[in-house]
Amino acid sequence: MQDFREKKRRGERVTALTAYDYPTARLLDESGIDVILVGDSLGMVVLGYEDTTQVTLAEMVHHTRAAARGVKRALLVGDLPIHTYDDPAQAVSSARALIEAGAEAVKLEGGASHVPQIEAIVGAGIPVMGHIGMLPQSVREEGGYKIKGRTQAEAAALLQDAAAVEKAGAFAVVLEIVSAETARQITSALEIPTIGIGSGSHCDGQILVTHDLIGLFPWFTPKFVSPDARVADEIRRAAQAFIRRTKSDSA
Ligand code: KIV
Repeated sequence: MQDFREKKRRGERVTALTAYDYPTARLLDESGIDVILVGDSLGMVVLGYEDTTQVTLAEMVHHTRAAARGVKRALLVGDLPIHTYDDPAQAVSSARALIEAGAEAVKLEGGASHVPQIEAIVGAGIPVMGHIGMLPQSVREEGGYKIKGRTQAEAAALLQDAAAVEKAGAFAVVLEIVSAETARQITSALEIPTIGIGSGSHCDGQILVTHDLIGLFPWFTPKFVSPDARVADEIRRAAQAFIRRTKSDSA
C-alpha cells in the first residue's frame, strides 16, 4: 500500500473502476486499471435496488468472489455494506469475509466518526480505503446525492475527516461529490492519494461506476459522468436484431 503514497509523490494518477462480476473485472484488469472496486453500487446497477442501503454482506461476498476470479494485476477492493461495520469488532469480521472472498483491501464510508473501525481493520492487517464527502449509505438521511464542501463549515469538517482517515491508517480516500476547491485543499493536505468521483480534476485519481462510464445503466446517469460508450443501446440493438431474425426464420 506504500505504493499509493509513492504514486502520489511521483504525481502519478490513480485509476479506479467498479466491477461486480468475472467478465467485467477481467476486462478492466486487462485494460490496465490500477484499482477494481466491488462497490456496494452493486445494489443499484446490478441488483435493481433503489439505493445501496439494502445491500448485504452475503451479496458483497458473492460478487467479490466472482470479480476476484477475473483479476490478476489490479488491486481488488471490496466495499463494506451498510451496518456491517457499526463497531470495530464487527468491522474486522466483515472485512475478513471480503478478504476471504478474494479482496485485497476494503473500503468503508465515514470520516472521523469511523476512526476506531479503520484502526481496527488496519490493525488486523487489512488495508483500508476511506470514503468521505457524499456518503451513499446515508442518502436517505441526506435526502439525495448532494454536493459537499461548499460552505466553510462543511469544507473544514471534510478536511478534518480526511486527516482522521489518513491518521487511522487508510492507504487512499475516495472523495464523493465534494466541491472542486475543497477536494483540491484535501488533496494538498494529505500524503495518501485522494480518489475523486464527481469532485473535480484536482484529486490524485478518479473512480467511476463502470455502468455509468460505459452507458450500461441508462435509466440514471450522474450529472458529472459523460459516458464513453453506449452499451445499453448495443444490447437493445443486438436483442432486437435477434428477435427479428428468429421471427422471420420461423415465418
Ligand atoms: O459503491 C461504489 O461503487 C462506490 C464508488 C462510487 C466510489 O463507493
